[in-house]
Order: sequence, then C-alpha cells, then structure tokens
Amino acid sequence: MSKSFKRTTVTSALPYANGPVHIGHLAGVYVPADIYVRYLRLKGRDVIFVGGSDEHGVPVTIRARKEGISTQDVVDRYHNLIKKSFEDFGISFDVYGRTTSATHHEFASDFFRKLYDEGKFVEQVSEQFYDEETGRFLTDRNVRGECPRCHAPEAYGDQCEKCGATLSPEELINPYNAETGNPLVKRETKHWYLPLDKDQEWLEKWILEEHKEWRSNVYGQCKSWLDGGLRPRAVTRDLDWGIPVPVEGAEGKVLYVWFDAPIGYISNTKELCESHPELGGWEKWWKDPETRLVHFIGKDNIVFHCIVFPAMLKAHGGYILPDNVPSNEFLNLEGNKISTSKNYAVWLNEYLEDLPNRQDELRYVLTANAPETKDNDFTWADYQARCNNELVAVYGNFVNRALQLTQKYYEGAVPGCGELSDYDRATLAEFCDVKDKLESLLENFKFREAQKEAMNLARIGNKYIADCEPWKVVKSDPERVKTIINISLQITANLAIAFEPFLPFSSGRLREMLAMKSFSWEDLGRTDLMSEGVVLSKPELLFTKIEDDVIAAQVKKLEDTVRANEEAAYRANPVKPNVSFEDFEKLDIRVGLVKSCEKVKKSKKLLKFVIDDGSGIERTIVSGIAQWYEPERLVGKRVLFVANFEPRKMMGVESQGMILSAVNFNGDLAVTTTIDEVKPGSQVG
Ligand code: 2FM
Ligand code: ZN
Repeated sequence: MSKSFKRTTVTSALPYANGPVHIGHLAGVYVPADIYVRYLRLKGRDVIFVGGSDEHGVPVTIRARKEGISTQDVVDRYHNLIKKSFEDFGISFDVYGRTTSATHHEFASDFFRKLYDEGKFVEQVSEQFYDEETGRFLTDRNVRGECPRCHAPEAYGDQCEKCGATLSPEELINPYNAETGNPLVKRETKHWYLPLDKDQEWLEKWILEEHKEWRSNVYGQCKSWLDGGLRPRAVTRDLDWGIPVPVEGAEGKVLYVWFDAPIGYISNTKELCESHPELGGWEKWWKDPETRLVHFIGKDNIVFHCIVFPAMLKAHGGYILPDNVPSNEFLNLEGNKISTSKNYAVWLNEYLEDLPNRQDELRYVLTANAPETKDNDFTWADYQARCNNELVAVYGNFVNRALQLTQKYYEGAVPGCGELSDYDRATLAEFCDVKDKLESLLENFKFREAQKEAMNLARIGNKYIADCEPWKVVKSDPERVKTIINISLQITANLAIAFEPFLPFSSGRLREMLAMKSFSWEDLGRTDLMSEGVVLSKPELLFTKIEDDVIAAQVKKLEDTVRANEEAAYRANPVKPNVSFEDFEKLDIRVGLVKSCEKVKKSKKLLKFVIDDGSGIERTIVSGIAQWYEPERLVGKRVLFVANFEPRKMMGVESQGMILSAVNFNGDLAVTTTIDEVKPGSQVG
C-alpha cells in the first residue's frame, strides 16, 4: 500500500440478474473479495463490502424474451437467487442492493444530469439499425447478417464466428434483427457521449505512472487501451429497459447499462449508510481521500473500472478514484468455457443441492486454483483430490487428532504446557512468522499463496504430532504428553484464525469446538490462545471425504449438457442440400505443408501462413484462427486448404486460399489435417 488510509470501500462487480451465479463468478470475484474483507475486519480495520445485482442491459431482456416472462420478473427471480447463493457461500456483503431500486434510479439519474448540465457530454446524431416492425433500434450484437468476408449467413454485428473477422454492423450484407428475423433499415438517432479522448492524458499519468503496482494483467490491458487512443463512448441507448435519460427530447432512451451499473456501488452504499447511521454518511466512503477504494472484478470488466468509471467520477468531481482493481482472469470448466447461455457451468444453487454443507470445500478449491494471473481450469477430479488430500488428510486430520487426544487423555480439558524441548521451540518458531507472511500476501491480493501458507500451518501441526507420537509416550512420560497436546491445541487455535477469511464455516465450527469466544487477527502466532483447564466441546470431523460416485455424477451432468448442446447445434445447423459431383469438383481442396506461421500485425484474430502447395512457389494464406493456435504449433503440419478460393486482402495481406477447420458446437476451431503423410499439393476428393 503506497499511502495509509483510514478506511476501505470494497466493491465486487454487480452480476447481471439474467441467470444464477456459477463457480466462475465465485472464483473470479466474490471469494477473493470476501477473503480480503474478512481479513480487514479481523484486523479491526474500518471497511464496507458493497455488492448488488446489475438488473439493466440487454442480457436480462434477452432472458425475459427467451423465458416468455416480463423483464421485471426475470430480475426479481435472479436477484433473489443470486443474493441467496452469496449468503449460502458466506460472501459477507454489508449491503447487497439492486439497480432497479428507486434509490439507484434517482442517484444514477442525478449523476447523469449533473454531467449533462455542466456540458460534460458530447451530443452526436448517428445512423443506427432500426426494426420498423418492432419500432426498436438494435444493439450491435442483435444485428446479424451475411459476413462480408467469408459469406457465412449468420455473422454478428460485431464479429463473424466462422472466419473470426471483427465487424461493424454496417458491413453485414442483408442485415436482420437476430431475434425477430425482420430486415433492418438505417435511422438517425441522438446519443450522449463521454469524451474519453479528453481524459487520455490524466488517465495515462494516473494508471501508467502512478499505479505500476496493479496486477500485470490489469495494467497491461489498460496500457493497450491507452496506447490505442481513447475515443468518445456513448452513455445512452435506444432501449425501453433501464433508467430513462433525464433530458428533454430523450424519450425512448435509457442510460447505457455500463453507465448506471458502477454508480450502483455508490447508491448501494447510500442505502447501507441510511440504515446504519453508525457508518456515517455515504460520502465518507466515496469522497474522503482517506478512504481506499478497491474494485474486485473479472477481466472483461477492466476497461470499465479502470478507465470509464474513473473518467465518470472525475467528470462529476468530488469522488475518490480506485486505489486498486484486483481483476482475475477466467475460470474454465473441464477444459471448456463456462457459459450461462449454454447452461455449461457449476451453478452455486445446484452445487449446494448436490453437495450440501460443502461451501468451504468449494471456496478452498476455487482459491487454491484461482485464476489470479492466467485462465485456469476447474475439474471435478482436482476438486476431489484437493478436498481429500488437503482438507481431509492435512487440516482435518490434524485438528481431529489434537481434539481426540485431548478427549482421550484429559476428558476434553486443555492440559498445561510443561518444559519445551528444542523440537517444540523449533516448531513454534516455524509457525510464529505465519502472520507476517499471510498479511503481506493478503495485502497484495495474493490469495492463492496466502491460503497455501495457512495450509502450511496445518502441515506443521500434522508433522509435529506425527513426530512426537504422544500415544507412544503417554505411559512413560505423561508430563511430556501434556506439552505436546497443549502445543497442538495452540496450533489448532491459530488455524481457526488463519483460515477464517478463507473457510469461514469450518473456522466457525472449529472455534466452537475450541470454546474460543473472542479472537482477532492480532492473536495469530500466539502460543497461549488455549488456556489450561478450558473444557472443549465434543469434537466433530471438520471435513469428510468426497466419494468417487459423487464426482462421477457431477462429471456426467456436464457431459450431458455438452451432448445436449451438440445436438442442439446440429439441429440448428442441419446438413445443407445435396450438391452434384460437378459442383463439388469446382472446389479444389489440397494438402499444404505449413512452412511458417505468424500473427498478422495489429490483428488479434489473424494468422499468416506460408505453405508449400507443391507448386514450387510458396503460397500465403491468412486465416482468422489466432485465438485457437500459437502460430509455432502449426509449423510443419499438413493442412487442408481450398486452393481456388478467390484471393482477397485481409489487414493488408493478400490471402491466396482458405485453410479448412472444423468448428465445434461452442465455436472452438480445430485445423483439419491428414493422418498419414501426403505430398504437398495432393488433391483432396
Ligand atoms: O459483467 C458483468 O456481469 C457486469 N454486470 C458487471 C458490472 S460491474 C459494475 F459496474 F457494476
Ligand atoms: Zn466470416
């Protein structure tokens, strides 16, 4: 921490109320935020933890249409479900609000109005696609049409999933409304833009120079936005769901969801402070320079929290800016992307139905495998292994031994500590510096390593009891056994504190078993937490083994979803009408040997292949598959390509053909190749 603060406002991204929350949400945002807040509270720091549902935007309206219910019903249903899931998993919000609340509507509306009155927006009229039948303008994603590059019939207004081209809706041939199928026309519409180009300079200084300590993924993404040059961004939309734009002549327009959602952090704080006068007014938490603001988010939210929202706050004036924005990367599931729309996820509500009372197990695994620096994969096999080999075999086992031995030898009363041996001293010294290590990791948002450190304490305890073998010494040296058990119980009490931010449910149960009434972070490292004579309650197992059949059932559930998605994709993409042999022969498909492959400059999607096509002259082909392959992986491979595909220029490079790939139901690509070696230039047919 570069400067000292009096208090901390912690926010976590407001999830869209368009579906339940899943393990990706928990791992990416809510568990790390909760660990951080619990730690600060244990340290006695002044902190509030603000959350809520994001109930505006297109995703919720799409869900409503899909389910055939009103948008309000959708957000009511999912807001309640999400709120309950967070409570069930111990995400300890001080407030969990919603952006459809009257307080939020008024607050966001006033925020916009102030910027408007002070001339902070730029008004601009532009032409946008309009569906005359429904009387609605469309968002880019809702416009579909033929791809101008590869002529796939159903490209999106922002991207063609077939060839990977980045598109704008204007480029689509015969655009239509994705939902109604109606053809679209262009119509003029007025919107208000936040002129981010004017913020370029201070944002560069503030982020690139003054916040070099931000996580490298966050810093890197900000740098790339800033290097690309900021452009004005529209903060209003032509939609009928959202907060009406509070300006004359703006009928039928609402605030862009990304304008109102982050303001939700502030309006939710206002609601919290109104019902908790002891917290002081909300302004203290948002305007006092001695307050530290920290946003926990997922990586797709970085630009909004590091660039757009700070620009809004600055334009408004009087607000503090975030001191840090610890963003995680994404969590995949059994090798595939988690997807709400494809129902491919481990939903938190379903998890608890299938694995009741196992909140801490999931929290533990998600933190142990948190996508802090890169995307990570959740697998049920890893979940089982970590639960059984770490929670049960290390932490649970140690605690159980210490407690059971206390019962067995001393009827549950803590024995006094006698003279320490050298080995005792060495053990105590080892666990005494855990507090400093943990603090430094937690203050720097390194939750994964911090949890490892806490687990290390249990390993120390396990080793201590195993090495001392009290069950062997009990007859010959009863005084020595008292010391061993006393030290084991001190370690156990330390574990209850160290794990509290990570595994609050089991820490709570452990504290009860230890009859620990009050405790604080500052107690960590102490060796006198358990006083002689205190009677412990009857021990229970902290964790129990996860059996194979439970895991198999979860894996099967995901496999069934994948199969259902594949079948649905097949039904949506049935085999095309038959073609004659003559028509087929018009295509000249050949084998090419990849001589080199590299990324096309300034393009995220394109790879440039140079291939040996058997002619003796090298052929260049550009293909939109950079997302799926590191170029080096393709060198030396024999690929299939259409040799007589009309040459075309992509990002300034002429492409002489098309590399063939198979497209998975989820849009993932795999380049097609041959099993046996064939000479470059061989014809396929
Ligand atoms: O990506 C999302 O799920 C958004 N609903 C996050 C909003 S965060 C904040 F701005 F409210
Ligand atoms: Zn295309």
